Amino acid sequence: MQSLFRSTLLTWATSSLLATQVHAHARPRGCGPTLERDVVVVGGGSGGTYAAVGIAAQGKSVAVIEIENRLGGNVATYTDPGTNQTTDYGVILYSNTSTARNYFAHLGVPIGPYEGYFPNGSTKYLDYTNGNELPYPVVGNVTAAQEIYLQQMQRYGDLFSAPGYFLPDPVPEDLLLPWGEWLEKYNATAMAYQVFYEQAGNALELPTLYIMKYFSVVTFTTGRLYTVNRGNQIIYNTAYDKLGGAANVLLESHIQRVTRSEQGVELAVKRPCGVQTVRAKKLVIAIRPRHADLAPWLDLRPDEARLTRQFAHINTWTCILNGTGLPLDTGYQLVDPTREAGIPPLPETLGISQSGIADVEARAFWWSTAADITPAKAASLLLRTAYFVQGAQNVSSPAGQRPTVNGLLAHAPYLLHVSSDAVAAGFYRELNGLQGRHSTFWTGSAWESESSEAIWRFTEQIMLPALMASLG
Ligand SMILES: *[C@@H]1O[C@H](CO)[C@@H](O)[C@H](O)[C@H]1NC(C)=O
Ligand SMILES: *[C@@H]1O[C@H](CO)[C@@H](O)[C@H](O)[C@H]1NC(C)=O
Ligand SMILES: *[C@@H]1O[C@H](CO)[C@@H](O)[C@H](O)[C@H]1NC(C)=O
Ligand SMILES: *[C@@H]1O[C@H](CO)[C@@H](O)[C@H](O)[C@H]1NC(C)=O
Ligand SMILES: *[C@@H]1O[C@H](CO)[C@@H](O)[C@H](O)[C@H]1NC(C)=O
Ligand SMILES: *[C@@H]1O[C@H](CO)[C@@H](O)[C@H](O)[C@H]1NC(C)=O
Ligand SMILES: *[C@@H]1O[C@H](CO)[C@@H](O)[C@H](O)[C@H]1NC(C)=O
Repeated sequence: MQSLFRSTLLTWATSSLLATQVHAHARPRGCGPTLERDVVVVGGGSGGTYAAVGIAAQGKSVAVIEIENRLGGNVATYTDPGTNQTTDYGVILYSNTSTARNYFAHLGVPIGPYEGYFPNGSTKYLDYTNGNELPYPVVGNVTAAQEIYLQQMQRYGDLFSAPGYFLPDPVPEDLLLPWGEWLEKYNATAMAYQVFYEQAGNALELPTLYIMKYFSVVTFTTGRLYTVNRGNQIIYNTAYDKLGGAANVLLESHIQRVTRSEQGVELAVKRPCGVQTVRAKKLVIAIRPRHADLAPWLDLRPDEARLTRQFAHINTWTCILNGTGLPLDTGYQLVDPTREAGIPPLPETLGISQSGIADVEARAFWWSTAADITPAKAASLLLRTAYFVQGAQNVSSPAGQRPTVNGLLAHAPYLLHVSSDAVAAGFYRELNGLQGRHSTFWTGSAWESESSEAIWRFTEQIMLPALMASLG
């Protein structure tokens, strides 16, 4: 497919200029007059930002409404106060596809290979009951299990290499099995631990469909990219500038009400400057579409309400740990050697990673829980693991330091999913059917997976062509 970007740079430069002029005419007090755009995008995470940049590149005017004070969603970049070096503890890497490469090139963000969290670092596997070091894999052959998994995914044509949930009808039984049962059926349980460590949540109970969307053929067969400064927030700061900054990106803004018709949409947006009206021909919703999060401001139609009520989610935690005194190049993972999958009972943190910064301790850490826990409980579970590993390895914190949790973030709702019964009954056929109705288009992880790169492909190949066609 031809790149969305490249040929349209000139049109974008023009529309950006126009948008800036519109802003220059705004009244000095309050938020100024009604903002009129071709498209308004709700949510400036990976899907919303990509959509806005793509819309602008095709010469249409766009505004993004973002609740936080920055674009980027689940991106979390940590800056070491002593050296200003950065590392990531939210979104880390991107599959090396042409979609990702074209996007980075369009933004002008320098990108290189992902060489591991600590280049050439290592991982020790510890028995979670007594701290004894164990060989890895503890049980079975991970490579052989992954080969089985990849072969099985390839049975479904391009379902796990193309973006979106465009499922065969009927949905194959295997994809509806809880993943733990699928692993037993195909003798592939040896791969459970690593998937759990990277994605966590209730991986063994989730329908296999969701594991295969995230750990897709693409993630197994392409290389991985990382920003060369090892700080992914730069992607979103660059996009903010490319979009014309504050003229088109409304940060710290809360939507109070949206009214939609087939002719267009009108929003009341509470901004730091006051309440502003925004009018557009089309609306793009790029936040996680949980009913509870949409209902307070969106004029939900009955079918939208019925579908978005069905989403369940998991809770993911992420933070930076320092002050342990453990070697920077070594990560530690806790294993239960009595279980075939090796996964300790939950809610247990599964270990602590290597440092993401040379010469400074900054261990990114992320883990998920099926149940809601408080931030205090999440921090205490992590610290307990840090002390446990220190004890097992006979390492103490340097003088005057102790294990410390920095920048703890709860990424919830994470990994929106529905029950196997709902999938079997055609949930995704109906969900995809919402695209374009009531002047509204949708993108984000609920439509693909939690992979930014896959969300970009969904936006590029599925959502944007339909949106552009509707704008004429
Ligand atoms: C880190 O960045 C800040 C703000 O840009 C600057 O004031 C400070 O001097 C920098 N520190 C180092 C160690 O480079
Ligand atoms: C990404 O893939 C392209 C095309 O295969 C290749 O030329 C490039 O070297 C890869 N980049 C990295 C950093 O691996
Ligand atoms: C990692 O190890 C390889 C091979 O041992 C070496 O070529 C490479 O330079 C190392 N990378 C770093 C960042 O130390
Ligand atoms: C694990 O499986 C791979 C692929 O099937 C095979 O090449 C390798 O020899 C196996 N390793 C062991 C230790 O059995
Ligand atoms: C599963 O794999 C193990 C070795 O990893 C092998 O001994 C066993 O026979 C396999 N079972 C099936 C049903 O393929
Ligand atoms: C740990 O991180 C915090 C927050 O960035 C910092 O203030 C502190 O100095 C760090 N401690 C160590 C031992 O690096
Ligand atoms: C633990 O380390 C201390 C020194 O840091 C040493 O004196 C002690 O013998 C070590 N204990 C074990 C069990 O290795």
